[in-house]
Amino acid sequence: MASVRIMASNGILVVVIFSVLFTSAEAQARPLFINCGANASTIVDGRKWTADSVPPNNFTLSYPGQIISTSANNGDPVYGDLYKTARVFNTTSMYSFSMARGTFCMIRLHFCPLSSENFNVNGSLFDVKANNLKLVSKFDVVEEISWRNRKNSSKFSSLMKEFFLDTGLNNLSIQFIPNHEGFAFVSAIEVIPVLGKLFADPANRLGGNELSLTGRGMETMYRLNMGGPKLDSGKDPNLWTSWDTDENYMFSLNTSSTVSNTSAISYASSNESSFAPLMVYESARVSSDSRVLERRFNMSWSFDVDPSFDYLIRLHFCELTYDIANQRIFRIFINKKTAAANYDVFEHAKGRNLAYHEDYVDYLSSQGDTLWLQLGSDPSSGDSDAILNGLEIFKLSQNDNLAHALSRIDTGIQEESGKKPKIKSFWIAISSSVGILMLFMLSSTAFIFLHIRRRKKKKKINGQHNSNPPGWRPLFLHGAVESITNPQASKAAPKFNGSLGSNRPGKMFTFHEIKLATNNFNESLVIGVGGFGKVFKGIVGGMAVAIKRAHPQSQQGLKEFETEIEMLSKLRHRHLVSMIGYCDEQNEMILVYEYMAEGTLRSHLFGSDKPPLAWRRRLEICIGAARGLHYLHTGADRSIIHRDVKTTNILLDQNFVAKVADFGLSKAGPALDQTHVSTAVKGSFGYLDPEYFRREQLTQKSDVYSFGVVLFEVICARAVINPALPKEQVNLAEWALRWQRRKSLEAVVDRQLEGKCSADSLRKFGEIAEKCLADDCRSRPTMGEVLWHLESLLQSHEEHGVRVGLRPEGEEEDDSGLLSSHHKPEES
Ligand SMILES: *[C@@H]1O[C@H](CO)[C@@H](O)[C@H](O)[C@H]1NC(C)=O
Ligand SMILES: *[C@@H]1O[C@H](CO)[C@@H](O)[C@H](O)[C@H]1NC(C)=O
Ligand SMILES: *[C@@H]1O[C@H](CO)[C@@H](O)[C@H](O)[C@H]1NC(C)=O
Ligand SMILES: *[C@@H]1O[C@H](CO)[C@@H](O)[C@H](O)[C@H]1NC(C)=O
Ligand SMILES: *[C@@H]1O[C@H](CO)[C@@H](O)[C@H](O)[C@H]1NC(C)=O
Ligand SMILES: *[C@@H]1O[C@H](CO)[C@@H](O)[C@H](O)[C@H]1NC(C)=O
Ligand SMILES: *[C@@H]1O[C@H](CO)[C@@H](O)[C@H](O)[C@H]1NC(C)=O
Ligand SMILES: *[C@@H]1O[C@H](CO)[C@@H](O)[C@H](O)[C@H]1NC(C)=O
Ligand SMILES: *[C@@H]1O[C@H](CO)[C@@H](O)[C@H](O)[C@H]1NC(C)=O
Ligand SMILES: *[C@@H]1O[C@H](CO)[C@@H](O)[C@H](O)[C@H]1NC(C)=O
Repeated sequence: MASVRIMASNGILVVVIFSVLFTSAEAQARPLFINCGANASTIVDGRKWTADSVPPNNFTLSYPGQIISTSANNGDPVYGDLYKTARVFNTTSMYSFSMARGTFCMIRLHFCPLSSENFNVNGSLFDVKANNLKLVSKFDVVEEISWRNRKNSSKFSSLMKEFFLDTGLNNLSIQFIPNHEGFAFVSAIEVIPVLGKLFADPANRLGGNELSLTGRGMETMYRLNMGGPKLDSGKDPNLWTSWDTDENYMFSLNTSSTVSNTSAISYASSNESSFAPLMVYESARVSSDSRVLERRFNMSWSFDVDPSFDYLIRLHFCELTYDIANQRIFRIFINKKTAAANYDVFEHAKGRNLAYHEDYVDYLSSQGDTLWLQLGSDPSSGDSDAILNGLEIFKLSQNDNLAHALSRIDTGIQEESGKKPKIKSFWIAISSSVGILMLFMLSSTAFIFLHIRRRKKKKKINGQHNSNPPGWRPLFLHGAVESITNPQASKAAPKFNGSLGSNRPGKMFTFHEIKLATNNFNESLVIGVGGFGKVFKGIVGGMAVAIKRAHPQSQQGLKEFETEIEMLSKLRHRHLVSMIGYCDEQNEMILVYEYMAEGTLRSHLFGSDKPPLAWRRRLEICIGAARGLHYLHTGADRSIIHRDVKTTNILLDQNFVAKVADFGLSKAGPALDQTHVSTAVKGSFGYLDPEYFRREQLTQKSDVYSFGVVLFEVICARAVINPALPKEQVNLAEWALRWQRRKSLEAVVDRQLEGKCSADSLRKFGEIAEKCLADDCRSRPTMGEVLWHLESLLQSHEEHGVRVGLRPEGEEEDDSGLLSSHHKPEES
């Protein structure tokens, strides 16, 4: 055997060229761990990793490719030493293992990108197949790593993928296939023949059908130790599985607490021992006593997954607390469907501290990219809590494929618009075909720009939590706060005791006057209807007004009526609807406001035949509403929280000036020494701050959340809750946020905005909305910051329009003739 080694000048790169192939050996029955590119075996994680550079080995490698190596440990606490070398292939190459018939194999592939003179870490792009099963496709390791890191500030610099397949009558071959101009590489490979039966076949689909697993490969998507610590592979001497913590996947940590018992756990039956190490069962997450609206909140976890696959969800259970049955009876929901009702872990295990697992299979449609697991109390059996010890999610292959067809960012866009080209193929097109280069350049620039920004952004996001990022400055100059015109009134505003006193500000109308103004509440003058009652257009003293007449029945209504009078009488602002007067004669609760000729913001967004609003106008309206809210939060002597910010409470006057309306639910904000106001949850579905919902603690940031939903509504022009849509689209906030987080908001924006708003504006706008919807209210911006950003967005939109000579968006603008049928970015 002849080999030539070329040492690079800095000693980091070693290129080995083989002239002979390795010899192969007999059927592999024992686990085999391969350190790719290494020339001596190493002990890592208590296991011996065979070097693939030195024969004899128990496998063959069809084409040796090249080796890159580094002397530095990449910092991985377990595999750092393993990742010092990698084998790189610029053409298809294959590891082959001799296998006994019908071996069920677990395969782990480790990828740690290393840079070298010949290979740019960012340049990997390849497929991997195990026998006929496609494991990954167009795989870009760096991209995948940043995708995985997106929710987490800690930076993983490597990734491991785990698969299962039955080799049937064949040996096992793992094939690396570089795509186009990319290369393939691998840092380490584990091939573990699984002795017991790890998956019962057939599996039960939710809804009852059986699903045959024969011939199906699997990929492990998630493996979590609920409520417990991270478990390294060293803790599992059977399969070397590692278990992550579950916090990052929980919808709200406050709906749960943890329990553990490390001393007395055993398996419910002997065959259970092959599924998970006992340590997984030693801790659990249980629902905490966080009741909202008299109901216990579900414990909910959500997982990003690939659409159009079946998933096997394996739940690991062990009752750690109760010695008798019927203490914890709960429901298991998967993707919001009931997977099990009346579930009692003690009953299933036939005892305390007995460990077992339960499998469910569900299909995720092409529209679904989030898998939900929820455990909640079973209404039919009282209000007891739930428990979960461990969770595994496996993706099942579809037609011998486990790879998601397109890279993640593109998936949705192609689904949604069918137009957006793949970024990578663009680069290839550019480099390989000069003829159409110029044509493409213009239209692709924006995409590439977006792509680059996305990567940069991911980094940025990773670094910032809870603190105001640079660029999110508090606002002082733009508030445009007008003075309160009636300071005495605000001081004097008394406690209302059912009937209204006469020291109220504003004009007090007689019931007769009101009847006259509304033509005796003529139905033809109704301009709005809500839970409170009706709003009529009326004329008083020759001036158009809006007259809101509440149902006289409820105490609640009276309270809100009084609140609104109290609030409005204290507040005067260009962006708050002003109250002209009221009428409380004859048990009536009537408020008279300035008339807002253009009605609600919502009516201009969708569900009516009003012409679509231009982008600039939408921005101006958002800015107006933000000003109004900013004033509420900071302008008055005591901060006021609106509590019901939504597009039907943002009204437009004849000049489309936005004014915030409906203060019926408003509350004085926290006093200076408090951070929040505790209160029963009120507000409108779809806009409600989840944190407020969970904790019943009100801050200005709850309005910021709702305003974020408004921003998405303005740009997507759809209802915030639309039950007619596929389930993952029902809630606008969740749906739009998902697209925004992928930096693909353009896929879901209002068609009417296509070509009207630059990719950059859209991106910034989406970022503002995303910030507003931050889960933790402390990381949300203040209304002032939101305002500042919206204003600077408007400003750059204007400058942009002037620079590229865009037609100014005028009042009468309709532009329907100019609508492009697909998402076409502006030249930028
Ligand atoms: C391979 O072995 C030689 C010694 O034989 C050593 O100098 C070299 O660093 C090793 N290469 C790698 C990548 O470990
Ligand atoms: C490789 O095969 C030999 C027999 O040829 C066996 O003794 C050895 O244990 C195998 N090595 C591994 C890591 O399975
Ligand atoms: C792959 O790399 C080898 C060694 O560097 C080189 O000789 C060969 O031409 C390359 N093949 C391709 C298809 O680039
Ligand atoms: C599997 O590999 C062994 C050893 O290389 C070989 O003898 C056998 O024919 C192979 N079996 C199949 C089905 O390819
Ligand atoms: C890989 O890409 C990242 C971000 O796109 C960049 O910061 C880095 O410098 C690139 N690495 C190389 C070696 O080009
Ligand atoms: C990131 O993940 C690690 C390990 O899973 C965890 O310890 C850490 O708390 C996470 N950080 C954030 C900000 O979620
Ligand atoms: C959970 O609730 C407690 C007390 O209400 C609060 O201090 C904590 O910040 C909450 N945590 C989350 C993540 O909401
Ligand atoms: C663990 O379970 C055993 C057996 O039920 C019990 O005796 C022991 O008190 C438990 N330990 C803890 C810390 O709960
Ligand atoms: C495990 O054992 C139980 C009884 O001990 C049996 O009912 C069950 O079928 C076994 N499961 C498997 C997968 O072998
Ligand atoms: C728990 O989740 C299920 C499924 O999504 C849902 O139907 C149910 O209303 C939730 N329960 C509570 C109390 O939120």
